[in-house]
Parts: sequence; structure tokens; C-alpha cells
Amino acid sequence: MVSSDNLRDLLAGTGAELRESVRLADLTTLRVGGPATVAVCASTDTLVRTVGALDAKGVPVLLVAGGSNLLISDDGFDGVVVEIATGNVELGADGVLAEAGANWDGVVARTIEAGFGGLECLSGIPGSAGATPVQNVGAYGVEVATLLRRVQLLERASGAIRWAEPAELGFGYRTSKLKHSDDAVVLAVDFALDPSGTSAPLRYGELARTLEVTDGGTRPAALVRAAVLGLRAGKGMVLDPADHDTWSAGSFFTNPVVPHARVDAVRARITAHVGDVTIPTYAAPDGVKFSAGWLIERAGFAKGFPGPDAAARLSTKHTLALTNRGAATAADLVALARMVREGVEARFGIHLEPEPVTVGLTL
Ligand code: EPU
Repeated sequence: MVSSDNLRDLLAGTGAELRESVRLADLTTLRVGGPATVAVCASTDTLVRTVGALDAKGVPVLLVAGGSNLLISDDGFDGVVVEIATGNVELGADGVLAEAGANWDGVVARTIEAGFGGLECLSGIPGSAGATPVQNVGAYGVEVATLLRRVQLLERASGAIRWAEPAELGFGYRTSKLKHSDDAVVLAVDFALDPSGTSAPLRYGELARTLEVTDGGTRPAALVRAAVLGLRAGKGMVLDPADHDTWSAGSFFTNPVVPHARVDAVRARITAHVGDVTIPTYAAPDGVKFSAGWLIERAGFAKGFPGPDAAARLSTKHTLALTNRGAATAADLVALARMVREGVEARFGIHLEPEPVTVGLTL
């Protein structure tokens, strides 16, 4: 690591504000993570200069914005955490342009208040606008990839800034070329919206039922936003500092996609353990998507597992969220994640993949 004096010299003139011995727990929604030096970047120019200066000296960089998809080690980060604290949002005639650090739900709310449809199903998701393309954030049948017009990137190797088209970003279910790669930093996102204020087609059963639409129908975006916020809150998926069920990284595992060739065998195995029930599944491009939350619960991990005294437990509202009850460490969460993953694998032969990015630890 570079000394703090050297770091001050290195970042002088970038506009970044340097903070030492910051608890990274305070920058993440799981509220775990040890100490690090943080460079707060309040403008896109500052962000570009800061990443450029650190990269030029080979200083390890961890980018953090909303902190809602990160599980950081209790040892912290040995390098510099670059906090993306940008936030400009510009509404156009048929879309919205947001800087990476803009609060995502704030962006969604503004578009809907301004009469645009499109983003309503993605209401109430914690985190920043710039993080949404990285893992192709999705909820209630809509993924950001379907609405994104372009993504502004800083290419770290060359220092070039350019707009990338969705087609080159390799979007898939909760993934893109930007995930698990440090090659580029998202600086801004540009979404195409519907100026009529009509929602995207409503295809997710639970939401369609709530709004009494038949599959693929639409409703005014504001109405859909309110319904989504209600559903999410009921599952503990809207941040609330007073509710430990929301001290999470959202879904901790992605829903596993089982290749067509294995689906019958997996179904038979589940039925053998659980009985002849309806197993919730969804169509996926390369197979059938099973519900991780459902599998976790049927593998013996009930909501709230392992019980009220544990520092880290499953949310009492949704088994797919691992939560910090106030005093959990990253190690506690890792231990719980491993137990759940191994339990599901042992019972159903399905391997769950974590959704959050891990820093300084592996599961
Ligand atoms: N279920 C259980 N037990 C639970 C929770 C759910 O058995 O404790 C069952 C439900 O009964 C339902 C099924 O699991 O049959 C699916 O549950 P839900 O509708 O809550 O959706 P999910 O598949 O668990 C996904 C996304 C969420 C997104 C919702 C709504 C993933 C990994 N998760 O959850 O995204 O908000 O659908 O669209 O794709 C996130 O990615 O962080 C996230 C919260």
C-alpha cells in the first residue's frame, strides 16, 4: 500500500476527498466490512481523474456506490475505495440520463413523477444507477437491459471515455460483461422511456395478480410503482434502517438455471423430498429457472433461520435474503451462506451461485 502522504500527493488535483480508516460497513447495505481509505468522488471528472491516478500507480481500487450488492471482508480493503458520489439526473423528451452515483430509486421516482413509463417494476431496489447494468438488475419481469439505450464507460487501460451499446455488453440473467471485470467503470446510464406514462407489459404473476391484469397487460406507471413498493416491502426488500430484515444485499443467491437435460431428474429429486407439489419455475434461455428461495426453504432453512439470537440469519420475510441483525461480521454471513448452499446442494443436487460481489473473501 502507498503511504497516506503519497496518496494525498497522488490524488491532489483530482478533486477527490480522502478519508482514512473508514468502516466499509458504513458504505454497504449488509453493514459489514472492515476499514479502508476512501476517496470520495463527487463529480464524474473527479471520478475519472481519481481512477486514472490510482491505476497509473498500480494502487488496487474498489469501486463503491450504493453498496447494495457487496459483501466485504472484515479485514477491509488494502488499496483505495473509490466512492462514486455523483448524482446528476437529466430527464429528456423520451428518456433519462443519470450519473452512476445517482440513487437508483430516486431516478425511478423522478421518471414516474415526470410522467414516463418503463422503470416502474424496478422501484424500491437499493443501490445506484451505475450499478444497474453491471449485473443487469431485474425485478417483476423487467431487466434494465431491455430499457438501456447506452452506458458511458471509462476504459481503464486506455483512459478513454465512450458510450457502449447494450448489444456489446453481453447481458444475461443478473450478469453482463461488466460483472467480475475491472476493465471499465460505469460513469453514466441512459434509459429509453415511454412518454405516455404507461407501464411496461406486466408479466410477473404476483404483480399481475395484485394489479388485476392478465398476462402482458399494462397499467399507469405510478400505480405499478406503488404496487411494486408494497410487494417489495412485504418481503423486506426495501431498505429501512429500523428493520434488520432489510440489512441485506437483496437476493443473496441467483435463481439456478437447470439445463433442459437435467430438469426431470431435478424435479424427481425435489418431489422425492418434498412430496407432489407445484414447484415454482420460470422459463430461461438455456433451461428452466428454479426458485432459490423456495429451494432454500424446502431444504430445511426456514425464514429467520437459524433463530432470533443469531447475528446473521435469513430474513424473517424471505429466505433468499441473508441479513445482519446488527452485530454480524462478514465471517458470520459467509458461514450462513455456506451452510445454506451446502444444504441445498446436499438435498436437491443444485448448486447456488451468490449474487453479491465478494471482496477479500470467497464462499
Ligand atoms: N419463496 C419461498 N420462501 C421464501 C421466499 C420465496 O418459498 O421465503 C418462493 C415464493 O413462494 C415464490 C418463489 O419462491 O414461489 C419466488 O419468490 P419471489 O417472487 O419473492 O421472487 P425471487 O425469485 O425470490 C426474484 C429476484 C428478486 C426480485 C423478485 C421479484 C433473483 C435472484 N431474485 O426473487 O431480485 O425482486 O424476483 O421480481 O432473481 C435481487 O436480485 O436482489 C432481488 C431482490
